[in-house]
Amino acid sequence: MIVIMGATGTIGRALVERLIDLGVPARALSREPEKLRNQIGEKGRSAIEVAWADAADPESLRRAFTGASQLFLALSNSPRQIEWETSIIQLAGESGIKHIVKISSPAFEQSAPVAVAGWHQEIENALRESGLTHTVLRPYAFMQNIMRFAPTITTQNVFFGSMGNSPCNFIDCRDIADVAAEALTNPEVSGQVYTLTGSEIVSYPQIADRLSALLNRPISYINLEPQELLRNLIEHGHMPPWLANHVVEIQSMATVVPERPNDTVQRLLGREPRKLEAFLHESVENFRYRIINVSCPESIALKSHRLG
Ligand SMILES: NC(=O)c1ccc[n+]([C@@H]2O[C@H](COP(=O)([O-])OP(=O)(O)OC[C@H]3O[C@@H](n4cnc5c(N)ncnc54)[C@H](OP(=O)(O)O)[C@@H]3O)[C@@H](O)[C@H]2O)c1
Repeated sequence: MIVIMGATGTIGRALVERLIDLGVPARALSREPEKLRNQIGEKGRSAIEVAWADAADPESLRRAFTGASQLFLALSNSPRQIEWETSIIQLAGESGIKHIVKISSPAFEQSAPVAVAGWHQEIENALRESGLTHTVLRPYAFMQNIMRFAPTITTQNVFFGSMGNSPCNFIDCRDIADVAAEALTNPEVSGQVYTLTGSEIVSYPQIADRLSALLNRPISYINLEPQELLRNLIEHGHMPPWLANHVVEIQSMATVVPERPNDTVQRLLGREPRKLEAFLHESVENFRYRIINVSCPESIALKSHRLG
């Protein structure tokens, strides 16, 4: 039995879909099982068992891991991520799980520190020390992150960042999920560390150009100083400071460490990674113009920044 932790997340939900398509049974976990059942729908009910579990509740994990041999682990970032994931690894081993597929992040140079990447390195160390077979997937930025720009694009035709013109690697989460499914079902793929990228590097100004062409209206990328972006994310985006700091660190890192696509997805899946162009095309309805909601403080703040 395969257990999926993070089944409602960006990668996890795509993995559940993939396993349903492959006819591979699994147990999917969530702190909101009803939401997960709705997500899975009729199609997956016979193949996917749903269970409640919370990383902060070891008893729920023991129950959820009973009888399982493999675990997929993709928890959202949180200041408790190291504590939770290391405890999950330990409980998984005690429960008889033999193989863990963990979503990590690229291991960056010391010269460009990213705190969350350090958390993942620490969790990877715990995996190595556990003695369990493990497959580590280190994807670059998810194409799905671009959806976070929808609120300002739909109301003000702009999005903000601090990456300047630096190109960035984007990978579609569905490709990460397909690689995870391969690691869970093909022993020739499991047990390795893989850095995953899309097939091209693209800058934010280029994304603005592509969206402008798709939407048939001008979309602009506005570059901010890192400290200004940090302030904006905290004050107007209502992000917790650690998360805003993570976004800024990732973007600053992209300006100093060149990102290059690799052929890992192609090699493991025998096909090209999904293209950013196709993702934007598929998602275009989310970026259609809508009238600004004057009661939305974030929009006003970002707009006033833009104007002056
Ligand atoms: N975004 C990127 O570009 C990027 C790039 C490289 C690596 N990563 C890594 O990818 C991982 C996933 O990130 P994401 O932003 O994509 O996550 P996400 O989609 O927000 O998914 C998070 C999942 O974590 C589960 N979760 C959170 N807290 C939990 C808890 N206490 N107990 C049980 N489940 C819990 C949630 O399940 P429920 O809410 O259903 O319980 C949800 O399914 C992160 O570790 C991140 O560092 C992200």
